[in-house]
Amino acid sequence: MGGSTGRGAVLVTGVSTGIGKATAQRLLENGFEVLGTVRRREDGDWLRESGGQLLVVDLCDDDAVAAAGERAEELLGSTTLVGLVNNAGILGAGPIESLGAEDFRRVMEVNLFAVAALCRVFLPRIRRAKGRVVNISSVSGLFAAPFLAPYAASKFALEAFSDSLRRELRPFGCDVTLIEPGPIKTPIWRKAHVASGERFEGSVYQQALERFAARARTSEARGLPASRVAEAVLRALSARRAPIRILAARRAFVYRIARGLPTRVVDAILARR
Ligand SMILES: NC(=O)c1ccc[n+]([C@@H]2O[C@H](COP(=O)([O-])OP(=O)(O)OC[C@H]3O[C@@H](n4cnc5c(N)ncnc54)[C@H](OP(=O)(O)O)[C@@H]3O)[C@@H](O)[C@H]2O)c1
Repeated sequence: MGGSTGRGAVLVTGVSTGIGKATAQRLLENGFEVLGTVRRREDGDWLRESGGQLLVVDLCDDDAVAAAGERAEELLGSTTLVGLVNNAGILGAGPIESLGAEDFRRVMEVNLFAVAALCRVFLPRIRRAKGRVVNISSVSGLFAAPFLAPYAASKFALEAFSDSLRRELRPFGCDVTLIEPGPIKTPIWRKAHVASGERFEGSVYQQALERFAARARTSEARGLPASRVAEAVLRALSARRAPIRILAARRAFVYRIARGLPTRVVDAILARR
């Protein structure tokens, strides 16, 4: 890679749209070199035109991730890999009673197993650079809303994974930050398998699901811009001491309070809504 600025390279997964794209842009503006992953080459044209490099890979395919690791070695050459930003993710929702194992498996594969696969491939290089890993979790990694079980389970798991990883990497001078965004205006909501439509028609949860879908639409409309999360990633990679968690949400205090309340109180508040 170019290597002109000397800040080193950062690998960002899922730079086609949303938070990954905003993050890659912010890092380039700040003198990092960026290696971004996409599933379709054309989704990364913007990155190549902006001076970054592309890896075309479906992160659920372990062999493809290993091949991407080899391609990254070629692209990086002697450039130091100072950061790995695990951003790619999908939303999965619906009433547990009506969801199949595949609904859970797909979300876990992208939101957790792919992160583990990327760590296997890229940690040796990150370790050598005393670099940092930034994992994009969610407020759903702190708080499990009804009808979001697959997504919340994957993000709670990512939180645990990140704590283990931080403790494993500490002796090597590396650090791990979890970013916990609230609703952000990105295409994730449209790409998702959202729990509103025909699939759950006639279900005993239908009314509650309609309210859930309406609330999701409001959350999306009021969501923060992806640039807010990109700024948090930049901070995680640049601060002298890496923060362990950054909550990037409107009214972040609500999530902090909800964590401290007795669980039955939170259940009652949610039931009224
Ligand atoms: N938006 C929010 O409100 C919000 C809130 C909290 C946390 N987050 C988290 O933020 C992260 C980014 O989400 P976003 O909102 O920016 O959504 P997004 O715009 O849909 O971006 C998700 C990215 O992940 C990629 N991806 C999905 N499955 C993949 C796979 N199997 N292999 C490779 N790449 C894959 C997508 O690629 P394609 O374009 O090819 O699908 C896309 O580049 C996710 O981890 C999400 O959970 C989002």
